[in-house]
Amino acid sequence: MSKNTNRRDFIGYSFVAVAAVGGAASLYGMKQVWDPLPSVLAGGFTKVDLSALKAGEPETFTWRGKPIFVLKKTEDMDNSARDLVVANDRYTVAIGLCTHLGCIPAWKKTEWKCACHGGVFDASGKQTFGPPPRPLDLPPFEIEGNTLVLGNEGPEYKKIAEAMMA
Ligand code: FES
Repeated sequence: MSKNTNRRDFIGYSFVAVAAVGGAASLYGMKQVWDPLPSVLAGGFTKVDLSALKAGEPETFTWRGKPIFVLKKTEDMDNSARDLVVANDRYTVAIGLCTHLGCIPAWKKTEWKCACHGGVFDASGKQTFGPPPRPLDLPPFEIEGNTLVLGNEGPEYKKIAEAMMA
């Protein structure tokens, strides 16, 4: 009797152990399938070294397939509520797609001009001429020291986004 009980217990424990290992393996497998690939995770963020930018010469970076304009403003460029201030420098950060129909405006000396229908955006990304209905959009970002990290909504982003809504 006792021998049978032990045998039954052993089979029961074995079943539980096999089920637990199988369950854990299944969960691990599901996590591997559901987690984004490392390349996707890395593609979600773009880092820009702000100290490498020259005042008055915007650069275009790519974040999640979109062009991102980053302009270090010169002293004589107007202040704007959407200026990103890092150290003593002011920057315009904007998604480089015209808010009319999505063309990519080109920088012409002091402003971005859209060749498609003549839209113009000033150095702060505000529309000043033509059909664009609103300023250039603001991509989510955060600041780490002197680095702009596109992809996360940091406090600097939230402050500018709020100012743009006002
Ligand atoms: S798409 Fe830029 S003005 Fe129309």
